[in-house]
Amino acid sequence: MSVTVVDHPLVQHKLTIMRDKATSTAGFRRLLREIAHLLCYEVTRDLETVEIEIETPLGPAFAPTLRGKKLVFASILRAGNGLLEGMLDLVPAARVAHIGLYRDHETLEPVEYYFKAPGDLNDRLVIVVDPMLATANSSIAAVTRLKERGADNIRFLCLLAAPEGIEAFTRAHPDVPVFTAAIDSHLNEKGYIVPGLGDAGDRMYGTK
Ligand code: PRP
Ligand code: URA
Repeated sequence: MSVTVVDHPLVQHKLTIMRDKATSTAGFRRLLREIAHLLCYEVTRDLETVEIEIETPLGPAFAPTLRGKKLVFASILRAGNGLLEGMLDLVPAARVAHIGLYRDHETLEPVEYYFKAPGDLNDRLVIVVDPMLATANSSIAAVTRLKERGADNIRFLCLLAAPEGIEAFTRAHPDVPVFTAAIDSHLNEKGYIVPGLGDAGDRMYGTK
């Protein structure tokens, strides 16, 4: 089991603005995309490279490039798309999986309404993105679905996690490293992260 908290000052600064309820929908979306750049840098830090021969304007050279097949970013809808956009800014050639899940407000159990992923997941690193790891019911279900489809090298990236969610997720999927910008205090009786930032999807899209 591995949990990495990305405590870079820029990430923490932007996250504080996102938590503020006075931050606008446009501001929230922009900040999520910016933070995704910084988190993407951390979650891909140890990717392997291989030297290839290229021609610079001054002549031939050997230079590193990413080894292996293209990455897959798996976005848990809706709010995962906020992180996805920023990740794709840095790795434009990545393949994308979409996993449509929402939490039933009464049971807090995930309800799947969409799933579309590249066919050859087993050969690729799959980075699952969702800003919020609360009870972890959604992320556990998403990773289970990806494993059923053959993924065996998976990382999970979020913005905020609750201790309860980290515990549940690492118990269900101990082989999947977790990256987060912060681990907050606790979940409230409605399954919201405290202090958190509220409902990530609503804040991104201006819904309620
Ligand atoms: C939010 C969030 C996660 C989930 C986290 O999505 O984006 O997917 O809740 O909660 P959990 O860890 O307790 O499962 P939500 O269900 O609100 O759907 P939305 O993104 O479509 O608004
Ligand atoms: N989903 C959210 O968007 N926010 C929370 O605090 C918990 C789940």
